[in-house]
Amino acid sequence: MTEIEKKLDAIKVVPVIAISDASKAAKLAEVLIENGLPCAEVTFRTEQAAQAMRNMRDAFPDMLIGAGTVLNKEQVDAAIEAGVDFVVSPGFNPTTVKYCQEKGMAIVPGVNNPSLVEQAMEMGLKTLKFFPAEASGGVAMLKAMSAVYPVKFMPTGGVSPKNVKDYLAVSSVIACGGTWMVPNNLIDEARWDELAVLVREVAGIIA
Ligand code: 3PG
Repeated sequence: MTEIEKKLDAIKVVPVIAISDASKAAKLAEVLIENGLPCAEVTFRTEQAAQAMRNMRDAFPDMLIGAGTVLNKEQVDAAIEAGVDFVVSPGFNPTTVKYCQEKGMAIVPGVNNPSLVEQAMEMGLKTLKFFPAEASGGVAMLKAMSAVYPVKFMPTGGVSPKNVKDYLAVSSVIACGGTWMVPNNLIDEARWDELAVLVREVAGIIA
């Protein structure tokens, strides 16, 4: 396993974040770290995403930070510039994968069927996002693919407190991703105490 894979494997749940105000990023990171999830996948779904990644990195040099919803080379460049550890894409785009590999940036692309897993494996990838997990067959689909392919999966999309343990029980699962513990309104309204409770609940589930 790479250092990043080892960290994902240890943390087990990756909060997937859409943050519209980058000035809140450092505080958000602090709440995640202090309550047991020292990791964030900051998605390119808001204009201030790259600045938010940069603010988290500056405040917490050792935090595991990913850039999510990466759809093209420009976003890969912005993610590298922001100092993230890895890139996540919702789908498997060989152009984006190749570009990350040229730049030495770890990428976890999304797959949800055997053909895509094989294409990703052919490019040397060993950790893949299973997305959208629940809509693509959930734990049953994941188990079926895990029986065949020697790769690790990060299920995301529909993972929740109800099913996260079932996903984590599958041996090929390195970590689960999800938005449920970082609701946008709590971030937007700086309701850090409530956020801390949600993060602690997740940390408790995986402990
Ligand atoms: C993602 O970007 O990975 C997903 O949108 C997260 O899905 P969720 O909101 O169901 O956790």
